[in-house]
Amino acid sequence: MCIATVDETGQPYQRIVLLKQFDHRGFVFFTNLESRKAQHLAKNNKINLHFPWHMMERQVSINGTATQLSHIDVMRYFLTRPKESQIAAWVSKQSSTISARQALLTKFGEMKQKFADGEVPLPKFWGGYRVEPQTIEFWQGGEHRLHDRFIYQKNIDNQWIIDRLAP
Ligand SMILES: Cc1cc2nc3c(=O)[nH]c(=O)nc-3n(C[C@H](O)[C@H](O)[C@H](O)COP(=O)(O)O)c2cc1C
Repeated sequence: MCIATVDETGQPYQRIVLLKQFDHRGFVFFTNLESRKAQHLAKNNKINLHFPWHMMERQVSINGTATQLSHIDVMRYFLTRPKESQIAAWVSKQSSTISARQALLTKFGEMKQKFADGEVPLPKFWGGYRVEPQTIEFWQGGEHRLHDRFIYQKNIDNQWIIDRLAP
């Protein structure tokens, strides 16, 4: 899914992350907690998730708020990752500038040696977010550009109100 966050000037940024879980509580993704997106979310936890399916002329757009996952939720997921991915989490200071790709490869080699025996610990700077949806818009392309759009909005009683929007 594509996620959009804004910096303190209101400048939007978008990037793709993997949707790893979803249930009635919201949509979960994992990332580096010192990354640019994490810095944005620390100041403004409003977020947009976008799912495009061009082939089916379909999209879903979700507005909501992102909250950091608990340590236990992050740990549970981290333990399911392949060892190389766990090590990679240690290697990349996500969103910072680096001198060359070689620096990354060298650090990966060092970390591989360091964690050769036993489990790879969860880095303090690695975690995830759960996005609680406030609005969900479903869009389906139709003939003659008469597309269907439905917006689900949560009211104060936590019930979903559904309206059709003009295409
Ligand atoms: C298919 C795909 C999946 C990705 N999945 C993730 C992910 O799950 N978590 C993540 O932090 N970055 C993921 N990325 C990288 C992000 O798009 C992005 O480059 C990175 O998170 C840094 O973003 P930021 O500097 O805005 O924080 C993925 C990129 C692609 C193309």
